[in-house]
Amino acid sequence: MGRLLLLLLLAVSASASEDAFIGVNIGTDLSDMPSPTQVVALLKAQNIKHIRLYDADKAMLLALAKTGISVTVSVPNDQLLGIGQSNATAANWVTRNILAHVPTTNITAIAVGSEVLTTLSNAAPILVSAMKFIQSALVASNLDSQIIVSTPHSSSIILDSFPPSQAFFNRSWDPIMVPLLKFLQSTGSYLMLNVYPYYDYMQSNGVIPLDYALFRPLPPNKEAVDSNTLLHYTNVFDAIVDAAYFAMSYLNFTNIPIVVTESGWPSKGDSSEPDATLDNANTYNSNLIRHVLNNTGTPKHPGIAVSTYIYELYNEDLRPGSVSEQNWGLFHASGVPVYILHLTGSGTVLANDTTNQTYCVARDSADPKMLQAALDWACGPGKVNCSPLLQGQPCYLPDSVIAHATYAFDSYYHQMAMADGTCNFNGVATITTTDPSHGSCRFPGSAGSNSTFVNGTALAPSSNSTVSGCRSQHFYNTFSRSMVFGVSLLSAVFL
Ligand SMILES: *[C@@H]1O[C@H](CO)[C@@H](O)[C@H](O)[C@H]1NC(C)=O
Ligand SMILES: *[C@@H]1O[C@H](CO)[C@@H](O)[C@H](O)[C@H]1NC(C)=O
Ligand SMILES: *[C@@H]1O[C@H](CO)[C@@H](O)[C@H](O)[C@H]1NC(C)=O
Ligand SMILES: *[C@@H]1O[C@H](CO)[C@@H](O)[C@H](O)[C@H]1NC(C)=O
Ligand SMILES: *[C@@H]1O[C@H](CO)[C@@H](O)[C@H](O)[C@H]1NC(C)=O
Ligand SMILES: *[C@@H]1O[C@H](CO)[C@@H](O)[C@H](O)[C@H]1NC(C)=O
Ligand SMILES: *[C@@H]1O[C@H](CO)[C@@H](O)[C@H](O)[C@H]1NC(C)=O
Ligand SMILES: *[C@@H]1O[C@H](CO)[C@@H](O)[C@H](O)[C@H]1NC(C)=O
Ligand SMILES: *[C@@H]1O[C@H](CO)[C@@H](O)[C@H](O)[C@H]1NC(C)=O
Ligand SMILES: *[C@@H]1O[C@H](CO)[C@@H](O)[C@H](O)[C@H]1NC(C)=O
Repeated sequence: MGRLLLLLLLAVSASASEDAFIGVNIGTDLSDMPSPTQVVALLKAQNIKHIRLYDADKAMLLALAKTGISVTVSVPNDQLLGIGQSNATAANWVTRNILAHVPTTNITAIAVGSEVLTTLSNAAPILVSAMKFIQSALVASNLDSQIIVSTPHSSSIILDSFPPSQAFFNRSWDPIMVPLLKFLQSTGSYLMLNVYPYYDYMQSNGVIPLDYALFRPLPPNKEAVDSNTLLHYTNVFDAIVDAAYFAMSYLNFTNIPIVVTESGWPSKGDSSEPDATLDNANTYNSNLIRHVLNNTGTPKHPGIAVSTYIYELYNEDLRPGSVSEQNWGLFHASGVPVYILHLTGSGTVLANDTTNQTYCVARDSADPKMLQAALDWACGPGKVNCSPLLQGQPCYLPDSVIAHATYAFDSYYHQMAMADGTCNFNGVATITTTDPSHGSCRFPGSAGSNSTFVNGTALAPSSNSTVSGCRSQHFYNTFSRSMVFGVSLLSAVFL
């Protein structure tokens, strides 16, 4: 017992020195998926420093080169069987997808599969072998100290999750969870967990108050109390993370940290999803970011970092399923935020250009004749003040149709308060988040001018904390969240 406690204290002090970060998942099921270069431009503009990809896409990893952005890549579920059955296939995967990119691209973790136990149970028996094969290929290349190997789990593998102290992993998975946790422990890795208070709330039939799911303050008499530990829970997120700590310690693993690989809230849903709203999504994600970056930890492990990847960077219009499935993103494909996070007042330093700052520019591929016509229209009937484009004025150079059209388009777009449809010009214009200002030529909307600066959204509010990004192949249709609190106990607590 004493030894356990000591181990725990050591583990606690070891991870307490690390600050938690916020990352972002990047799913790609979009009909107009931005190019890797555009994705990276958005990540940089938003100061997002940690991302998770659902694969190891070559073009994306190349675009991420030399950015320093920390990347978790994934072995997609459909490649898992091959890798788990053959050391050579695993080594090959590592050569093609990892060795080809490090150290130029900062790959820091490999997620082997996604929610394998709950979505691909036929591959479960080879999951740990797959992780070990990948690990031994990393060891052979001397990369095992830089790149960790883990696998994201759905929190539905945790049963009886309230009170957290009674939680345990579904026993059917013990033959896999025990060697898996041994692997994480022996390699210094962490448990990857997907945490969705939205689903727990939706499936609780009113037992879980919305405020409790959204990290809003509850009156003390409404807080959930774990009757075994007397720990008070003020939000669902902490309760789920603590349930995972307790489920691990039930199997005698007490020093494995947790990284939340996915969490978020949808901003839109159909009539059966009335709480998928812009306001709730904004409240959840803003509060989540503040909670994580504050290094608050959980009631069981206060102050222990629980770094978290938000699900997700973009709304994915092509995802099948309910309306909410397509609306988990922080941004539209154009780079325009779906909502502006409420992060001011959190004591953090806001990045300057992380606001709803967009510009209208001429497309590189546009036909010069059409550009000229659009330019003439903007400076004429469009009533744009084009005098900065005259010879001797700040935006005269470079003296090209595309540069001048870009200035005129952006001026018009901002003159029209960036309203929908005002950056089109017969298809020769497009919206970007990169400020086209150069030299003394300041574009309308630039943070340097005082036209449209909006107060800040920043995913990485301070220099020593960060955001990263990607999404998981959830199969929400078959979602059966068992994370939900013992109904009788909760009703006792909340009534
Ligand atoms: C890679 O990411 C890690 C984690 O954020 C960071 O500590 C490290 O400095 C990054 N490496 C480079 C070369 O930027
Ligand atoms: C797998 O390959 C690595 C080298 O890449 C080797 O060190 C390890 O022993 C092999 N494991 C098995 C089970 O063959
Ligand atoms: C535990 O996992 C097994 C195997 O996937 C599943 O059949 C069973 O329904 C799960 N039990 C609970 C209570 O979710
Ligand atoms: C955990 O450790 C205790 C005490 O050593 C032991 O009795 C118990 O069987 C162990 N549980 C598991 C799942 O290994
Ligand atoms: C931040 O942490 C402090 C203690 O470390 C705590 O009192 C405070 O409530 C936390 N704030 C948020 C927003 O979680
Ligand atoms: C961002 O700006 C665009 C263009 O003006 C606007 O349509 C959108 O509503 C804004 N988004 C937010 C979250 O304010
Ligand atoms: C951000 O703002 C600070 C001070 O307001 C300024 O010095 C800095 O140049 C700005 N950075 C960018 C990228 O605009
Ligand atoms: C802001 O706008 C005002 C009037 O529109 C102008 O006088 C002032 O110089 C502008 N400031 C900056 C920093 O551009
Ligand atoms: C921006 O924030 C400042 C200080 O918090 C506030 O005074 C100002 O009204 C805000 N501006 C807008 C446009 O919200
Ligand atoms: C994080 O930044 C804040 C403000 O810049 C500073 O006070 C704090 O000491 C930093 N924390 C760490 C761990 O570097």
